[in-house]
Amino acid sequence: MKKLVITFLALMGLVCKAEINILPTPEFAVESEGLFILSKSTAVIHCDQAKDSATWLVKKLNKPTGYKLKLQNKQNTKNISNAIILDYVDSESLGAEGYILAVEQNGVMILANNEAGFFYGCQSLLQLLPAEICDEQKSDTKWEIACLTIKDRPRFPWRSFMLDSGRQYQKPEFIKKYLDQMATLKMNKFHWHLTEGQGWRIEIKKYPKLTSIGSKVAQGKEQQGFYTQEQIKDIVAYAKKLHIDVVPEIDVPGHSEAALIAYPEYSCMGKAPKSVMGFTSVLFCGGNEKTYQFMEDIFTEVCELFPSEYIHIGGDEAPKADWKKCPQCQKKIKEQGLKNEHELQIYFTNRLARFLHQKGRKVICWGDVVTMPGPAMEKNVVVHWWNYRGHKDKALKEAIRRNQEIICNTNYYSYLNFPLTPWNQYRQNRTFDLKTCYEKNPSYLKPEYTDKHENIIGMGTCLWTDWFVQEYMIDRRVFPRIYAMAEQMWHKGKLTSFDDFYKKLKTHYPRLKAAKIDYGPAMIDEMSKGYKWD
Ligand code: ACM
Ligand code: ZN
Repeated sequence: MKKLVITFLALMGLVCKAEINILPTPEFAVESEGLFILSKSTAVIHCDQAKDSATWLVKKLNKPTGYKLKLQNKQNTKNISNAIILDYVDSESLGAEGYILAVEQNGVMILANNEAGFFYGCQSLLQLLPAEICDEQKSDTKWEIACLTIKDRPRFPWRSFMLDSGRQYQKPEFIKKYLDQMATLKMNKFHWHLTEGQGWRIEIKKYPKLTSIGSKVAQGKEQQGFYTQEQIKDIVAYAKKLHIDVVPEIDVPGHSEAALIAYPEYSCMGKAPKSVMGFTSVLFCGGNEKTYQFMEDIFTEVCELFPSEYIHIGGDEAPKADWKKCPQCQKKIKEQGLKNEHELQIYFTNRLARFLHQKGRKVICWGDVVTMPGPAMEKNVVVHWWNYRGHKDKALKEAIRRNQEIICNTNYYSYLNFPLTPWNQYRQNRTFDLKTCYEKNPSYLKPEYTDKHENIIGMGTCLWTDWFVQEYMIDRRVFPRIYAMAEQMWHKGKLTSFDDFYKKLKTHYPRLKAAKIDYGPAMIDEMSKGYKWD
């Protein structure tokens, strides 16, 4: 069978795409005659490298089928009919996360050259089985798969979903449910927005008031709470099994009112913020050396908790009125030969970037830092382009000019908190449907463009919880529209027409239901009368 797959590889340039409902859409797929039937005697055979994925797959298959599938190492196996085989293939063309999946009447083969590839092959296999495979309970479904061969690999190495746990706390089980869904969509970075004006959600042992005070500063409908270091380690480990890096965001120097209520001595002139709503000009003082020590202490603990190569330091929406008035900030501007407060933020960013570089990390900051001219930025600074509503592609262009790595994640149309129809403070111009996102998302830059700019490492999508988007309201905003973005992040080559994509997406609704996702409408036509976003 391996030989057949390799022949298929050789013919790859000649084949056309078949009607296969896997999302995100694989790069190449061809259907063939016949069916494979998963039965209680199917074995799951793996090479050493695929052990974890094979174990994960068996667990996923056993619950809904009620089988106790046998897991076998390839080295101890002679008879390999009626088997799902995960085997190593030395193929450079699969890249870092690609796989080949071949389904034939007598067995299934998943080939990859690394663990992520095996895992994504398993994810695709699950999507080929009937939707009941997503059920928690046993089902008497006939577990058959139409024969086919797929070769697949991602468009971008960075495919992120951001959750705002700063404004609203969500329970760890909820976070894990989202990690599971991300893995289904082959997304690999969970960007966890852990701090905001309205709440500091990460336990920092050296500064306990960050959570004892900072997690409780908001007094509206916010859900209060924070994640202990033990809970964070558990979430990071859970994500790792799903080939997801958890990228923490500690948003500084702005959006930090919660921290500055707990520790006002690190704001300009020691001023405690009066409001935690919206964003204010009460920032961490960029002139005070003690602020930098405070930051370094915090990021030291953050790095101990999160092994991710990338650490997000925020940097968005930091109005400079206090920095303008602050004697220490002004002194620092003079001392460092900076032109203004914006340049002080670049200095602040570079200080943290240098500190985190020593720990082997890259630093992500929101595009605000490059929307104005200023001094050079450290090489390990990644620009997260977001403010399309205000600045169009200014941050993107400037980041390209500076040759920084870039993540594309524009508020039009990859902020999933913008609902489909107006709600609360989200007026008509802050709404979008699946089609708009699929066809007009500025973050989906044309492959011709991204191929030219290797520093564009990928795309992101966000769910902000401003205007009181509580935990129970999140599913209906994120799903199913996130599928459009997963498609844009993963699918290599030209996107299929929206109609084809939408048709495919609808076949996933029963899977979402089985996974207990309270998904919302993708298009106005799907909205029931009186549909509520809350
Ligand atoms: C942002 O939306 N303030 C990054
Ligand atoms: Zn200051």
